[in-house]
Amino acid sequence: MCGIVGYIGNRESQPILLEGLKKLEYRGYDSAGIAVFTEQGLEVTKTVGRLANLEGRLQGDPLRGTVGIGHTRWATHGKPSDVNSHPHMDNTLKFSVVHNGIIENYLELKEELMHQGHRFLSETDTEIISHLIAVEYEGDIVKAVQKAVRKMRGAFALGVLTEYEPDRLVAVRYASPLIIGIGEGEKYIASDIPAILEHTRDIYILNDGEMAVLTRDGVELMTVEGNPIAKDVFHVDWDLMTAEKAGFDHFMLKEIHEQPKAYRDTMRGRLSDDGKSVSLTELSITPEQLRAINRVHIVACGTAMHAGLVGKTIIEQLARVPVETDVASEYRYRSPIITPETLVIVVSQSGETADTLAALREAKRNGARVLAITNVVGSSVAREADDVIITLAGPEIAVASTKAYTSQLIAFYLFGLHYAQVLGTQDEAFVSHVLAAMQSLPEQVEKILSQAEVIKKIAESISRHANLFFIGRGLDYAVALEGSLKLKEISYIHSEAYAAGELKHGTLALIEEGIPVISLITQEDLQEKTLSNIKEVKARGADVFAVVNEGNEAEIAKSVDSLFAIPRTLPLLTPALSVVPLQLLSYYASLALGHDVDKPRNLAKSVTVE
Ligand code: AGP
Repeated sequence: MCGIVGYIGNRESQPILLEGLKKLEYRGYDSAGIAVFTEQGLEVTKTVGRLANLEGRLQGDPLRGTVGIGHTRWATHGKPSDVNSHPHMDNTLKFSVVHNGIIENYLELKEELMHQGHRFLSETDTEIISHLIAVEYEGDIVKAVQKAVRKMRGAFALGVLTEYEPDRLVAVRYASPLIIGIGEGEKYIASDIPAILEHTRDIYILNDGEMAVLTRDGVELMTVEGNPIAKDVFHVDWDLMTAEKAGFDHFMLKEIHEQPKAYRDTMRGRLSDDGKSVSLTELSITPEQLRAINRVHIVACGTAMHAGLVGKTIIEQLARVPVETDVASEYRYRSPIITPETLVIVVSQSGETADTLAALREAKRNGARVLAITNVVGSSVAREADDVIITLAGPEIAVASTKAYTSQLIAFYLFGLHYAQVLGTQDEAFVSHVLAAMQSLPEQVEKILSQAEVIKKIAESISRHANLFFIGRGLDYAVALEGSLKLKEISYIHSEAYAAGELKHGTLALIEEGIPVISLITQEDLQEKTLSNIKEVKARGADVFAVVNEGNEAEIAKSVDSLFAIPRTLPLLTPALSVVPLQLLSYYASLALGHDVDKPRNLAKSVTVE
C-alpha cells in the first residue's frame, strides 16, 4: 500500500510532509518523494529507498513553500527506482500527482497519450494520471481531475496540485483510502490517520467516488461527478499506535480483516473486461512454452508452502499437469529431477527467504523456467524469476502470515485457470463459472469476519489445552496444515495437522479424553469419510470443533461438539474461506494466553538466513 500526505496552509510544508510520511512507514515502502509549490513553481524531489535518502536530498536543497504533497511508494507497476517514485508530473511540469492504487487500463491510456505526443519517464501507471489531467485542463483543476478520473478504471486515491492554481489541493478517493484533515487555516490529506494525527483529530473520511477541494480556509466535498455532498466531521480519539492499526488491537487482526480487499486487489486487472476469462498480461511465458511443460514443482517455506499445497490441487484439477510440492530447504539439497520441461513455481511473501531463493537458483541452474508468486515487487525472488505474479495484499506486518497466504491462493487460482485456458483442459463456461465464484469470495470472507465472536469463544476454550489436532482430507488437509502452523506460531500450543484417513495408522494413540480436534469438512465428496474419522476420535473422548459448509450444520452437528459454517462456494475455492476461521482461532487463542500476537517469540517475518 502506498502512503499519501498533502498540506495546504501557512507553515512550511516540507517538514509536515516528511513527518507525515514517517508515520506511514509501517505500511511498507520502497521509495518516497514530495512536490511543493516554491517560488520557482511546482518542484519535486523523490528518491528510491528509505525516507532518510529523501531527507538527505532535501538537506542541501530544501523545497520551501506552504503547499505540497508527499508519497511513500509500495511498488505494483515498475520496479523501485528514483524515476518510478512519486510524485509524478506531466511534460509541462505544471501538474503533479501522488497515487495509491492500481489503474487497470493504464496501458491503453498511455498508448493514447503517446499518440498525442506525450513522453513518459517511468514504468508506472501513476504517471499517466498527471498527463490525463494536463490534457483536460481548461482553467479549472477540479473539472480537469473529474474528466481524467472518468477515463480511469481501477483503484485510486489521488492528491493533485497544479501550478496554475497554487491555492487549491485536490483529493480523490476510489477504492483506496483517503482522509481530509481539518485545521485552523490549514488542511491536510492522508492515506491514513497516523500521518496527520499530531496536527488535527478532526477529519472527513472520503468514500469511494468522492473528492475534496482543499483551500486554507475550507474543504469543498463532492462526488467525482461534481455533486456537492455534506459530511459529519469524524473526531479521532485513538493514540498513534492504535491509529497505525486502523483501530485494531494488532496488525494480525487488521491484516485478517484486510483480506477481502487483498482478494479484490489481487484479482483486479487480471480478468478479461467481461470477467469471464483470466488475463495475466504480466506473464512472459508463451502458450507454446506452457504447452511444452510436462511437470510443475511448487517450492516454498512455511505458510507459503501451505499455499503451494492448495496450488498443487488447483493446477492438477484445472490443467491436469502433474505437480510436485516440496519445502525449499529440502528441495535445494535433494538434487531434484529438473528438466527444461519443468515449470518451478516459488512462493514467497517477502521474496527474500533464503531457502526459497536458493531453490529458485537450483531450478534455474537446471534449466527450468521459474514463476514466482510474491508480495514484494523488486524482491530478490521477483527479480530472479522468469515470470512473476505479484500478490497485491499490501505490506504484511504481523509475523504470522494471513492476507499474504490467501492472496497466494488467489494467485494460484488465476494461474491455474490461465493454464487451463492455454491447454484447453477447461471450457470457457467453466472458467467463467469459477471466476464468478471467485468474485464472491471477498464478501463471503466479510461474512465470516462478522461472526468472529463465535470463533473467539472456541479459541478461549482450546487455549487451555497443551496439545490438539487439526484433521481434514484433500484440500481440507492442506488448510489444516496452515491452521495448525498459525496456532503453533502465535499461541505456542502444540498442534498437529493430520490427514484424517491416517489417524488410525498411529496417531489415534494420542487421542484421549477432552483433547480438542479441529476438523475441516468442506470437501463434501469426502464428507462421509471424514465423519467416520471424527467418530473414531469422538469414541476416544476428543472434543471436536468442525468447520463446515453452510447448509450442512444440522447433519454434522450430530457428530461434533461445536461447529462453524462458512458460506458455500466451489469445493476448489473453499480454502480461501475455510482458513479464515482458523486464522481467527489462532489469533484469539494467542490473545487469551497473553502472547505478543504480532511478534511471536523466536520468529522473524522474513527468514533471510538458512
Ligand atoms: C508465516 O505465518 C510464517 N511466519 C512463515 O512460515 C513464513 O510463511 C515463511 O517463513 C515463508 O516466508 P515467505 O513467504 O516470506 O517466503
